[in-house]
Amino acid sequence: MNRRTFLAGASAAAALGRAQNSAPAVPPRRTYSLNRNWLFGTDADESKFSRVTLPHTNVELPWHSFDDKAYEFVSVYRRHFRAPPAWNGKRIFVDFGGVMTAAKVTINGHHFEEYRGGYTPFSFELTEHLKFGADNLLAVEVDSTERADIPPFGGSIDYLTFGGIYRDVELRVVPKTHLANVFAKPVRVMANDRAVLVRCYLDGRVDQPLTITAELSDGERVLKSATATVKTAAEYHDVTLAAIGDIQLWDLHRPKLYQVTAHLDNGDALTARMGFREARFTDKGFYLNGEHVKLRGLNRHQTFPYTGGAMPARVQARDAKVLRQELKCNIVRTSHYPQSPHFLDACDEAGLLVLEEIPGWQHIGDAAWQDLAVDNVGRMIRRDWNHPSIVLWGVRINESADNHEFYSRTNALAHSLDDSRQTGGIRNRPNSELLEDVFTINYFGFPLRPPSHPLYLNTEFNGHMFSTKRFDNVERVAEHVIRHVRVHDQLASDERYAGGIAWCAFDYASHRYFGSGDRICYHGVSDIFRLPKPAAGFYRSQCDPEEEVVIEPGFFYAWGDRGSGNGPGVVPICSNCDHLKVYYNGRLLLEADPGRKTYPNLRHPPFIVNLTTLSFGNWGDLKIEGYLKDKLVATRMLSGSGTDDVLVVKPDDAELDGDGRDATRVVLAVTDQFGNLRPLASGAIQLSLTGPGQIVGENPFSLSGGAGAVWVKAKEIAGTIRLEARHQYLGRKAVEIRVRGVEAELV
Ligand code: GAL
Repeated sequence: MNRRTFLAGASAAAALGRAQNSAPAVPPRRTYSLNRNWLFGTDADESKFSRVTLPHTNVELPWHSFDDKAYEFVSVYRRHFRAPPAWNGKRIFVDFGGVMTAAKVTINGHHFEEYRGGYTPFSFELTEHLKFGADNLLAVEVDSTERADIPPFGGSIDYLTFGGIYRDVELRVVPKTHLANVFAKPVRVMANDRAVLVRCYLDGRVDQPLTITAELSDGERVLKSATATVKTAAEYHDVTLAAIGDIQLWDLHRPKLYQVTAHLDNGDALTARMGFREARFTDKGFYLNGEHVKLRGLNRHQTFPYTGGAMPARVQARDAKVLRQELKCNIVRTSHYPQSPHFLDACDEAGLLVLEEIPGWQHIGDAAWQDLAVDNVGRMIRRDWNHPSIVLWGVRINESADNHEFYSRTNALAHSLDDSRQTGGIRNRPNSELLEDVFTINYFGFPLRPPSHPLYLNTEFNGHMFSTKRFDNVERVAEHVIRHVRVHDQLASDERYAGGIAWCAFDYASHRYFGSGDRICYHGVSDIFRLPKPAAGFYRSQCDPEEEVVIEPGFFYAWGDRGSGNGPGVVPICSNCDHLKVYYNGRLLLEADPGRKTYPNLRHPPFIVNLTTLSFGNWGDLKIEGYLKDKLVATRMLSGSGTDDVLVVKPDDAELDGDGRDATRVVLAVTDQFGNLRPLASGAIQLSLTGPGQIVGENPFSLSGGAGAVWVKAKEIAGTIRLEARHQYLGRKAVEIRVRGVEAELV
């Protein structure tokens, strides 16, 4: 199933409206969002069900210290819908983006085979079982238990899977013979005769010759088109858009996207968004469009506080922006499963490279389990092959033992579906068998091993070796920074390392046998609310100062939070300036240059400054000035007052769609007078909301390390949400979020 499928033309509501009137004019293809108006419950009595929208979690949870058994149960979702008479003669499919973990789907009482797997899309054809001009009932029994017959389960896993229909559902109305998928594969991107091979997968009979027309467009103009005639049915048909001429490449800084549309002469059409780039792992590292790029990235779990994976497009997409624009990463690994299509779309838009992998963690199950894992490879690639951001397919179960036959199958399938991308497979044994193109390894020791294979990428380091909370004491957070710094410095020392993807971007919820005792793995450079720890400052500081001048202290500023007192200690300041001046209480304390002697390979090594001589009698503010070529370009003030000064209530977005599912994070924090987070600030924040929205999260919210977040979700009406937060000592603060009206597509 291709998620970027649409046909330009009448809106769904208009199409449906026409269909319900006497002269039905149904477009050849129409995809309806089926995310609103579901009923949800846990037994057979529909009168006890509640009305919900998707994405949906089967239970809302605290942000930590909960038992996974809380979501491990079977639930039922029901969706009534009216199929207009005009659909008669069409083929109708229901497309599920992701249901955790197994789904038994029925339509009007007809049962489909159970779909097993929480991270991959699946579809069923409803056509024969529908009642046209009448009510239809689509029901889904969702088993969210950890079933040993389904990857990743069978052993232990260091993350939680959560439950429910947690991704989008669509209804697809198409001609009898239609395009089931399109792979728009750019070829010879760097040559003058670049082309796009448009591989069209047809579903349906070919009784008479059919013409396929493929078009490349930049969103405004059609740049190229070509046709092919199909006389007999086959798995796919290729149309080549040759001699394309000038195009703009997709790269990290200007991620230009194009559209390729395949049209059938029966009016069906399917569009794939794609980009032109050449991505290769070589024995001299990674090359994008012929240029060497040292990969610097973080692993990401797709889960959030309160709802697990059930966050809407905007929230899933925001993580890509955080990784690219705030953490300045150039790659992310979707550990350990195919992630939200919205996240991947946002990676395409942000210029963030992706290593995507199949679901699994250390354990390999029996033959049937392995068949499912091989099937996951196919579903992942067919869903995501048009994303220019994806540069490597991960086709092993993360950190599993060798299994020649199993991994020969996953590699062969990946290569046969997509010969334009290399495969990797994440291992933690240096002598494991390499059936993939790139040797991708989790190695947690330091120093790193020299590359043992010509194509070599480090896919995990740090993580559990130095679990660090955002509000840990100064020695620990500063050491956390250094541990990320030193690995990236070593990776930069040898061109045979393609680079490294650290464990990990965000803290995440896990099982009781992992983490810090509250079932959270504090392994992120940002916390579970996506709020940065000092280690995030290292990643942020690696960008060109033309993009952003960064000064991030790798410590919290206090006189006596360290064993021996006298200030924060010898600590890193992460910055891309060439020189820093540090003032203590208004007087110049020291000047510093980047720590090139210790970290000679980084473009922007941290500055290591000695802050052990701060007299407490004179204790006061610290000012850090950043210079580029002797010019003062940025100043950072850290308060010595020791007081909680400002209550911050900050939504990420000022406007939401009134579709009952759109949501935005609202950060709750206490800062000093200069806007720096106060990591030991405490207190409960009482929230009250008026208008068309609801709070997703804890209320009152107890600050954790001086901060945290809830999400505000829009209801299905337009208006203005007003959220007021009250802190016992810091007073009240209110924010407003507008909600736009959005009509339901199919009621
Ligand atoms: C790795 C594993 C990750 C995570 C990490 C913690 O071994 O692949 O999923 O558990 O350890 O550092």
